[in-house]
Amino acid sequence: MGEQIVLTDVGPRDGLQNQPRILEIDERLALINAIAASGVGAIEVGSFVSPKAVPAMAGTDVLVSRLPENGVHYSALIPNMKGYELAREAGVRAVNMVLYASEGMAKANVNMTIAEAEEVAAEILVCARNDGIEVIAALAVAFACPFSGATDPGIVRSAVSKFLDLGVDQLVLADTIGAANPQEVRAMTLDLVQAHGAQRLGCHFHDTRAMGLANVYAAVESGIRRFDASIGGLGGCPFAPGASGNVATEDVVMMLEQMGFSTGVDLDALIRASDLAEQLTGTAPGGRAKAWLKPWLAQRAG
Ligand code: COA
Ligand code: ZN
Repeated sequence: MGEQIVLTDVGPRDGLQNQPRILEIDERLALINAIAASGVGAIEVGSFVSPKAVPAMAGTDVLVSRLPENGVHYSALIPNMKGYELAREAGVRAVNMVLYASEGMAKANVNMTIAEAEEVAAEILVCARNDGIEVIAALAVAFACPFSGATDPGIVRSAVSKFLDLGVDQLVLADTIGAANPQEVRAMTLDLVQAHGAQRLGCHFHDTRAMGLANVYAAVESGIRRFDASIGGLGGCPFAPGASGNVATEDVVMMLEQMGFSTGVDLDALIRASDLAEQLTGTAPGGRAKAWLKPWLAQRAG
């Protein structure tokens, strides 16, 4: 068996938050269960945000109460302390809190400054430790910002080192608008892996400019072994102009398995989950691998 890669499917959150069609709780659950059935080890199931800001994520508390106990690592995104409290009340065991590498994005997403968001995040971390809740920190616009352009790598380095030192369980570099190129990803991730080790570091790429998979490869080359991806390539942030879908889970799995890594994912079942995502949302923006995989899997089965 190849070296293990830990994948988190963020489609039920990053994907569904940005769709014109708002799914019912039953539909969101069906998608989560289909992804889980494929063997993807971790799923970001939704977010505890203002339903006025993101109507598609309303009812995440009900959804969480109905998740089956099946060993899958479930997490939910929170933007602030209120989100943390709602997530805890709902019984969430892992929260994904957002940090910012640009003032413009912090303002657009949560109406805070970078410093305010970091202060709230540090407070959430203290509460979560007491409550026995795992904390993932996602650093938004880690490579580029829709409002201010290229991100200063110094800001990324200091936020990463500050929050790893504060004890987050994972720190995910997010290319929120899919503007990074593999060369800068390689440089940034290598630098961070050399400074902190790869154990707690992850990457989250959008495929806006068709470099999502190349960026996954660049980060793998630096030693990163944790990746976010989204079923069918759904995804995008309503508050980051120009952000399109995440790199598709099926593309990431196919590439990494072909390279000899082990993702634990059954491609047949993953394609069924991708078909369901397409059926429920009426779109499948990404997922180049599926067109090739479907006939190939059918032929192998037959
Ligand atoms: N969950 C649900 N409701 C929340 C909330 C949360 N985490 N945080 C705040 N609210 C509610 C407040 O109670 C208040 O409700 P009211 O209008 O009924 O009184 C309202 O939202 C506004 O709260 P306020 O603290 O003034 O925040 P704001 O207007 O500056 O908005 C956010 C900030 C964070 C609440 C809002 O922008 C948001 O939820 N953004 C989501 C961002 C997101 O999901 N981005 C994509 C993923 S990164
Ligand atoms: Zn994203």
